[in-house]
Amino acid sequence: MSEFHISPIAKPLRGTIRVPADKSISHRAAILGALGDGETRVENFLPSETTHATLNCLRALGAEIETIDATTLVVRGRGMRALREPNDVLFCAGSGTTMRLLSGVCAGQNFLSILDGAPALKRRPMARVAEPLRAMGATILARDNGKLPPLAIRGGNLRGIDYTLPVASAQVKSAILLAALFADSPTTVREPSLSRDHTERMLKACGAELQIANRESRIHPTSRLAIPNSQFAIPNDFSSAAFFLIAALLAPQSEICIQAVGVNPTRTGLLDALARMGAQIKIENTRNESGEPIADLIVRASELRATEIAGDEVPRMIDEFPILAIAATQARGETSVRDAQELRVKESDRIGTLAQEIRKMGAQIEERADGFVIAGPTPLRGARVHAHNDHRLAMSLAVAALVARGETVIDGWECVADSFPNFENVLRACS
Ligand code: S3P
Repeated sequence: MSEFHISPIAKPLRGTIRVPADKSISHRAAILGALGDGETRVENFLPSETTHATLNCLRALGAEIETIDATTLVVRGRGMRALREPNDVLFCAGSGTTMRLLSGVCAGQNFLSILDGAPALKRRPMARVAEPLRAMGATILARDNGKLPPLAIRGGNLRGIDYTLPVASAQVKSAILLAALFADSPTTVREPSLSRDHTERMLKACGAELQIANRESRIHPTSRLAIPNSQFAIPNDFSSAAFFLIAALLAPQSEICIQAVGVNPTRTGLLDALARMGAQIKIENTRNESGEPIADLIVRASELRATEIAGDEVPRMIDEFPILAIAATQARGETSVRDAQELRVKESDRIGTLAQEIRKMGAQIEERADGFVIAGPTPLRGARVHAHNDHRLAMSLAVAALVARGETVIDGWECVADSFPNFENVLRACS
């Protein structure tokens, strides 16, 4: 287990930085490339533990994937009907996105696939994908009465369904949409609040017939996906940019520009919350990249005040609550988060682990079943903390350490490789 020793920053953060490629879109680009006909070039792919798990699974399913360099791939698909039965377990490492999205693909195949993962993934709920895929006609067996990995899937001969997700989840919605491509009739999927819509955008761009209204998508089966211009160019990850947004807001006199960040509105709830908190963030040079809006974010150190987050905003910033919590420790008043019980089933129980670790640094946080309340501003102190195998918790603690008094040691730092392997280099580039 590796440790990261981090000292408070002595001077403002300055300069122009780039964060790594979007994790969600990287997984989807590889999967759709593998279902496409012929060569798809993927530019600015995220090289990480989780996305490499997806590549390995797709190779085991018969796709040929060439790594040109760390961030460029060529995926050679042989069409939607050309996947083959893997002769070993599909190992999804710690990646929920890999397991859930590939469950949808495997449900469409007339062969046996067994999906398994690392111990942390084995604890994450899978009934949420297994149930709708069973309703479509797939046979899915799983541990603990069909709830936990590994998943054994024998698919094929699917029928379209009309399904309302009990909780907003882009992974579950995407699994259903991918399976629906292989069904014999259209599928409608509805969510209580809108989650990230990358799958819908990408499937549409590939020619799938998809009608989208509010929180409902209706998709028709298809026999062919045509990758636009035979390439995907992945935007940089808003969720990775979030750590540097908060670091620059909190470190006095800082001003940084984060270039070419994905600003899909289903992902940028944090910007709305920060605007209410008084953050000075400018969104400039907005443009389009492979069907996704991207922009440069210019952020200046700001005095923050507390806010409340609940309801539809929660899925729009579902991965940003650990870093929002660090901002809340420095904001005047009580910041409250509700309706976010999903945080308990992420890479760690993100309400419990967050509270446990930031308390060690002096934060005043009260845990709730579906969120937390943080009182601020509170001076933070350096401490020995633990990442709990959760990359976003690890990086949030690192940002807290930058504005704390005294050194912090983060145990289990290696998990940052799940989404942001060069975090330390990017931090050095602006500090
Ligand atoms: C993701 C969806 C979200 C998010 C995860 C990535 C995706 O999970 O937390 O990091 O790529 O679709 P849920 O679908 O479980 O909310």
